[in-house]
Amino acid sequence: MARTAYVNGRFAPIGAATVPVEDRGYQFADGVYEVLLVVDGMLWDAQGHFARWRRSLSELAIPLPMSEASMRLVVRKLLRRNRLRNALVYMQATRGVAPRNHAFPVRPPAPSIVMTARPFDLPSANRKAEKGVRVILAEDIRWGRVDIKTVSLLPNVLAKDAARRAGAIEAWLHRGRVVTEGASSNAWIVDPDGALVTHPKTNEILGGITRESVMACAEELQMKVIERPFTLEEASAAREAFITSATNLVTPVVTIGDRAVGGGAPGDVALRLRRAYIDRSARLAAAV
Ligand code: PDD
Repeated sequence: MARTAYVNGRFAPIGAATVPVEDRGYQFADGVYEVLLVVDGMLWDAQGHFARWRRSLSELAIPLPMSEASMRLVVRKLLRRNRLRNALVYMQATRGVAPRNHAFPVRPPAPSIVMTARPFDLPSANRKAEKGVRVILAEDIRWGRVDIKTVSLLPNVLAKDAARRAGAIEAWLHRGRVVTEGASSNAWIVDPDGALVTHPKTNEILGGITRESVMACAEELQMKVIERPFTLEEASAAREAFITSATNLVTPVVTIGDRAVGGGAPGDVALRLRRAYIDRSARLAAAV
């Protein structure tokens, strides 16, 4: 079935859905995005994703392109037109179309908005998670405001491609010896005392919505979470490691660089958190 995209008020076959060449998203990566998981027709972590969407736009002084209610309506139509009940929904907004000039246009254009959806299969994602995944290490060469979810992703793209070439699914980025996060996920370890450790929510990581929910799960399971930077050496010596994101949920990491973690098999803590995250998200999920 041909996929359908939403672009600035219209639905169109994805191959024919276009934005003008002077869109500032195309010229300057002057835009933001969000990725939301839909399972059985229900949105997971929707509140958090919509809140971060508003924050990213506001940090870049891009006006809200449409209300949350209107966006939900578009998501509903997009899922129906693509015949999807299990999907990843991508929403992207840019500052809009204006003659090329770095500074913001004096008369602000209407922001551009694009939404797309693609199938997501939870059972096959679960099978992948049960095996665990490999991550490589890459220097974190990103700018100083990666807390904003911008479409300006070239360092992430380069790191992810290096991961793909190495047969891994993710790259853990490090500034000096400190692991910040993955190219498109948050990074966690279980330290030798059994505590969960993840980088604090600063301008050096994207504050993951899944990360927040996983913290709530950890609390329910009476697991200790410490938000502090951890080093490459700590990652090598960790009992377990895992990543969190809307696309990976909680996925155990079994190899970091060329070193096996936790004996090279997914750890209990990560797998328990994955189940807890899935249960909690399904319980709190909202109709689109
Ligand atoms: N990525 N860190 C980075 C750099 C990310 O791009 C993402 C998400 C996360 C996790 O955030 P969340 O839990 O809210 O998905 C952390 C999305 C999934 C993507 O770019 O495809």
